Amino acid sequence: MKSTLRKSADPRSVRADLLVVCVPKPPGALAGPAAAVDEALGGLVGRVVSDGEVDGAPGSAAVIHVGAGLAAKRVAVVGIGSGSRDDWRRAGDAAAGRATAVRARSAALAAPDDAGGAEVGAFAEGFGTGLYRLDRFKSRDEDAPPAVRRLTAVAPGAAAADLRRADAVAEAVNAARELVETPANHLTPTILAERARELADGVPGLSCTVLGRSRLERLGAGCLLGVARGSDEPPRMIVMRYRPAEVARPGEVLGLVGKAVTFDTGGISIKPSSGMEEMKMDMGGGAAVILATALIARLGLPVEVLAVVPATENMPSGRALKPGDVLTAMNGRTVEVINTDAEGRLILADALAYAAREGATRMIDLATLTGAIVVALGEVYAGLFGSDEDFTRLVREAGEESGDLAWPMPMHERYRPLIESKVADLTNSSNKRQAGPVYAAQFLREFTDGLPWCHVDIAGTAMPSGHGSGFGVRLLLEVAERLGRPAGA
Ligand code: BES
Ligand code: MN
Ligand code: ZN
Repeated sequence: MKSTLRKSADPRSVRADLLVVCVPKPPGALAGPAAAVDEALGGLVGRVVSDGEVDGAPGSAAVIHVGAGLAAKRVAVVGIGSGSRDDWRRAGDAAAGRATAVRARSAALAAPDDAGGAEVGAFAEGFGTGLYRLDRFKSRDEDAPPAVRRLTAVAPGAAAADLRRADAVAEAVNAARELVETPANHLTPTILAERARELADGVPGLSCTVLGRSRLERLGAGCLLGVARGSDEPPRMIVMRYRPAEVARPGEVLGLVGKAVTFDTGGISIKPSSGMEEMKMDMGGGAAVILATALIARLGLPVEVLAVVPATENMPSGRALKPGDVLTAMNGRTVEVINTDAEGRLILADALAYAAREGATRMIDLATLTGAIVVALGEVYAGLFGSDEDFTRLVREAGEESGDLAWPMPMHERYRPLIESKVADLTNSSNKRQAGPVYAAQFLREFTDGLPWCHVDIAGTAMPSGHGSGFGVRLLLEVAERLGRPAGA
């Protein structure tokens, strides 16, 4: 799907299968293009509003079939709420839903006169992600709607660059969603690494290196290798580096770390079988990191990035980790494995230590880490943990701005005893059912070498109602954009 800009056009003359006009909440009197289209349709847009079919709330939408008076075949009246970026994104998503439902191949947005580049871009972003569907695994799909190929935005306040950015963001988010939803037999650690390599190919400043078993052995990545021991699929540590020609803050290297367990059975501490198929999505953090890194590079942001994605399956077998086993992480810390299902923190331990050693000056990790964060925050907010007040605030604000929401959780020192072991330096889990997400964050902190670091637990937000959301791509992009402004700006 490609979005293009027209600076001005009479909405009545815009040719498209679906023409979108916008209504705020509360609707008030129709204005701008919505009023012009209403007049051409003899007051039908106003009727949709006065009948309460569309109240202006973001996501509300209705379709009017057009007989005469307009070049477009249909009109969608779409609510844009209070006009926040998130509202505009939801409006785009609703418009895409209607476009798909009426089997449109082209759509056009007649933007209100006061809509700027951020608003129109957010609409296009929501439209692009709203068109997503996974049909790779259907051998026959006669009912599949035709692809919407084109969105034309008639918007005096926007620039072509706003739409290019929106298309790139939507494409990255959709690609992350597809990786998340891809079954584990079609997405092994090896295949994920191959995908990362392909994404890096030909993007200026971006490179990808994949570390296999023997390199990991030499590096002493005992925790990642330990988790991988139960599987016939070899583990991979996917390393992407983006070195832009110019940087806003010399010396800064943003470390991005993402958990990629391509299937989590729990290992010997095996999970119940009901719902276990969802654990093909336990690589949502890794997918977001890979796609966000490629996106940051494609957009040419002036921020150096080091992305590290540990990828493995977590399987039971005759070689698998056993409860009570002790592993040694890359930074030399020893870990007693109390529960083999707390595997995410183990592989992240090596990845964080590696990123710190390879020159990251601040780090964020994204991980579908704990079921308890889903209980606490549901599918709306991810859990945000941080070791540095300023950086944590930056990440939280980036969440609010991007729509990938993250809510601060405690990191107080008094939680530290949770992770102590009698046998080794640390345990990966305890039998006390207390503060599970905080426990995991306290554990991860031990591998961050004192750097400013944030951990985002996305177990709830990465897979709402069993679907991949692509959560984290927009959050990491927004973080990089903020770090791409000169310090103090
Ligand atoms: N991948 C799971 C967490 C998860 C649960 C993600 C539900 C998405 C939805 C993780 O590896 C896990 O199994 N965590 C355990 C930790 C426990 C053993 C300390 C959990 O949350 O039960
Ligand atoms: Mn697990
Ligand atoms: Zn897991």
